[in-house]
Amino acid sequence: MKVLGLSFGKKNANCDILSKEALYGVKENFPEAEIKFINTQRLTIDRCIGCGACSTSLEKGGDNDCIIKDDFQMVEEAIREADAIILAAPVYVLQPVGQFKNLVDRFSCRHDVSAVNWVLDKRRTGEMPGDPDAYPQERLKRRVVSYISVGGAITENWTSMGCATLHLFGFPVMMKVVSNYNANSMGTVGNPYLDDELMGHMHEMGKRTAAAVFMDDKEVEYYGPKGHGTCPVCHQNLLMVNGTTTVECPVCGIEGKISIEGDRLEVEFSEAQQARARGTFAGLREHTEEIQGFGAICAPKIMAGKEMLNEKMKRIKKFDEMINA
Ligand SMILES: Cc1cc2nc3c(=O)[nH]c(=O)nc-3n(C[C@H](O)[C@H](O)[C@H](O)COP(=O)(O)O)c2cc1C
Repeated sequence: MKVLGLSFGKKNANCDILSKEALYGVKENFPEAEIKFINTQRLTIDRCIGCGACSTSLEKGGDNDCIIKDDFQMVEEAIREADAIILAAPVYVLQPVGQFKNLVDRFSCRHDVSAVNWVLDKRRTGEMPGDPDAYPQERLKRRVVSYISVGGAITENWTSMGCATLHLFGFPVMMKVVSNYNANSMGTVGNPYLDDELMGHMHEMGKRTAAAVFMDDKEVEYYGPKGHGTCPVCHQNLLMVNGTTTVECPVCGIEGKISIEGDRLEVEFSEAQQARARGTFAGLREHTEEIQGFGAICAPKIMAGKEMLNEKMKRIKKFDEMINA
């Protein structure tokens, strides 16, 4: 079993300490585990530039590798090799630090299990070029993950989107989430080793994450310290509201029904909705199918408005002339 610790914090600071304690937990129960630790703080992981080279390559029969070459490839290789990942990132202005999102944008979409299989199925039927068996299947293998969001603020108020955003890393790859922990309060804790309960939780998180490698997804019991969250899939407490009693989990994209009794609010997410959460194959496939339709919808509109659009686009190209006039 290969276990990867991925820390986006400062060297030997809170993210490193918390995730390394979890990795001590892994080693205690699984001495044979191969453990790798990467601190990304000094790495260059540039942003996705939306060039589309990865998807074009896949559609033409190649792999969908990213053509921007920097430290990303080394991190990607380590993620691909791992069976279990402990990922810790600091909250910078309510969400994980931007470098984390750069990694998500360059790693996660390209490993979307439904999107890749969509193309491989078309290779099998001859609708797309390429050998379906040539694609490195291990890129799509099952992995488990636990997330640690680290913030300085005393209350959860200033870490409101930390944990939730960490989930964006693993859902396209259908990583099974074993645990996620909002380690806020670091500004007053001083050093995580001054909080025995917190460090005990990290240690146990490591043990459970490693154990989950040898279980089916259904057998994995979510390990959460502060209640199990409102959404039964991602265990987060964020909800999108639209003025009706139907609400949506912004992480999983599934609908629930709210009911209120006194000052208690319950949200019921049906089994059917849970089965179409973003991190399931069905949920990912909904999106794959949705985006296939873009061309058919836009192409006739663009063709019909071609002359007008050509004229209007001249304005955009001459924008600098306008502001400098
Ligand atoms: C630019 C910046 C913004 C931050 N914003 C928040 C915030 O919104 N909420 C919060 O709880 N902590 C915030 N922090 C504090 C960090 O999350 C905290 O110091 C954390 O321990 C850093 O992780 P590290 O110790 O592993 O480097 C911020 C820190 C920096 C440098």
